[in-house]
Amino acid sequence: MNGAEISQPWWKGAIGYEVYVRSFSDANGDGVGDLKGVADRLDHIADLGADVIWLTPFYPSPMVDMGYDVSDYCGVDPLFGSLEDFDELIEAVRSHSLRLVIDLVPNHCSNRHMWFQAAIADPQGPYRDYFIWRDPGPDGGPPNNWVGYFGGSAWSLDPASGQYYLHLFLPEQPDLNWRNPAVVDEFDEIIRFWLDRGVDGFRVDVAQALVKDLELRDNPQVAPWVPDATRWEQWEAFEHRYDVNQIESLDLFARWRQIAAEYDAVIIGETYVLEPETLAQMLRGDGLDLGFWFKPMSIDIAAEEIREALRGPIEAVADPSMISFVISSHDEPRPPTRFGGGDLGRRRALMLSTLLFCLPGVPFLYQGEELGLVDGIVAEDRRADPVGADVSLSRDGCRTPIPWEPGVSFGFSASEVTWLPDGGRTDADTAKVQRSDDRSWLARYRALVALRRREPELVDGPVVWLDHDNPALVAFRRGTVVVVANTGDDRGAVGWSGDVLYSTVGLGGSVSSSTELEPASTIVIRISN
Ligand code: NOJ
Repeated sequence: MNGAEISQPWWKGAIGYEVYVRSFSDANGDGVGDLKGVADRLDHIADLGADVIWLTPFYPSPMVDMGYDVSDYCGVDPLFGSLEDFDELIEAVRSHSLRLVIDLVPNHCSNRHMWFQAAIADPQGPYRDYFIWRDPGPDGGPPNNWVGYFGGSAWSLDPASGQYYLHLFLPEQPDLNWRNPAVVDEFDEIIRFWLDRGVDGFRVDVAQALVKDLELRDNPQVAPWVPDATRWEQWEAFEHRYDVNQIESLDLFARWRQIAAEYDAVIIGETYVLEPETLAQMLRGDGLDLGFWFKPMSIDIAAEEIREALRGPIEAVADPSMISFVISSHDEPRPPTRFGGGDLGRRRALMLSTLLFCLPGVPFLYQGEELGLVDGIVAEDRRADPVGADVSLSRDGCRTPIPWEPGVSFGFSASEVTWLPDGGRTDADTAKVQRSDDRSWLARYRALVALRRREPELVDGPVVWLDHDNPALVAFRRGTVVVVANTGDDRGAVGWSGDVLYSTVGLGGSVSSSTELEPASTIVIRISN
C-alpha cells in the first residue's frame, strides 16, 4: 500500500430525498408548490440527514402530465418561478451542504414543444425525424401492436400527414427518436446547460425505454389485450421485447456519463424494470451511475416476497452500491396505505424502509414518507392526474401537499385553495408537531437515516442472508451488524443477540436471541458473537 486512498464518488452510500415540486411548499401563495418554496424548506431535508435532493420537473410545460410533458428543456415554468429562482435554489442547496439532482425527460417531450410543432407543420423539414413516424398498418390502424404505459395504443394519427406518431405515454407526449443524431446533440446541450448552472446530476425519466427497435416489430402477445382493462393489465398482455430495454440505450447513458463526469455529477436512471437481470444489464459498463429498483413498491408484506425483492438485484447487479432502493414515489400509492393503512401500515412501511437502509446503494425517501403519511383523500371533482379516473389507479393520493404545521393549508400555502386538496391531514401529521415528539414517525426516520450515516458497514461489504426457524423473519448480516425484520402478525424471537443500534419500535439496550420482536418491526443490532 502506498497510502493513497482510492477516492469514491460523492454519491456512494448517499441518501436521497425526492421533492415533488408542486406539492412541497408554496412560497407565492398561488396554491402550487414552487422553487422558492423548496429553498425555504431545505432545513427540513438537511435535518433529516439526506444528502441529495431529486427535484421533479419544473420546466415550461402545458402540464398535461404534471410537467413530464416538457415544452422547453432550458427554462422554468412561471408556475414554479424563474431561472433566477433556480439559481438561488442552487445556492441555498449548497449552503445546506446538500446536492441537487434534476429530472431529465428524454423519452418524450410535449406536443407543444417547438420540435413537435415544426414536425407537424412541415413533414419534409428537419424536425420530422426528431419523432417516430410510420404509415398506418395494412388495416389502416396503428403501425404495430405496441401499447402505452398509460393504456391504449402507443400510436396516434396526425390527420394532416396521414401518418402515426409513437408515444409510450399520453398522445400529448410524443416519443423522441433517439436514433437521430440531432436529438442526441440537442440533449448534450441541455445537459450542459444545467450542469453549467450547478446541478449535481440527473434522474433520467423512463431510462429503460429511450431507444426503440429499429424495425418497430410487433411485441409478442402473451395474453388477450382488453382495451378497457387497467393500464397495467394492458401492458402485461405483451412481452416487451421491442419497445423497451433495447441495448442501444446504454450508449446514450455512457455518453451522458462522460459529460456528467466532467462536472463530478451523477446519472441516475429511472430504470423501471422488474427483473433483476434487466436492471443488471442497464447498470453494466460505463453508463448509469445508479439505477432505481422499483420492485419493493409492488410487493406484499410477506417474508419470502420481501427477501426475493431485495436479494434479487443485490445478487444480479455486479456492483450493488449502484442500486437505488425505493418503496415510495410520486407515481405509486404511499406505502402505509398500500400496507393496510393507519399505524399498522406505517409500521410496516418503516419496517421495510429499515431493510432498504441497511443494504448497499443509495436509498431514496419520497417527501412525506418521513412523516408516515398515508395517501391523501382526493374527491372525484378535485382529481388532477390524467391517469386513472379510477381512484385506485390515480396518482393524486400520493401527491397531495406536504403538511408542515397546523393552520391554513397546513403551512403548505398561504392560500386555502391548493392545486390538490390537503387530503384530510391532521395536526399530528405535520412536520412541526412531529419535530417536538421523540416517538414520532419523523423522529424514527431521522434516527434511521442517522444509523445509516454512522455505520460504514451498512454501505460497503457483502450482504449475507440469514436463515431462521421462524418463516416470518427476514434477516441479513452486514459485517458485525445484523438486521432482523418480523414481517408476521405475531411476536417472534430475534434469533441473534447484541447491542441495539436501531429499532423501529424504540427498543434500546441489548437483546438476547430469545428477546421477542414485535410484529411489523425491524431491529438492527451489533452482534456480540
Ligand atoms: C415517470 C414519471 O415518474 C411519471 O410521473 C411520468 O408520468 C412518466 N415517467 C412519464 O414521463
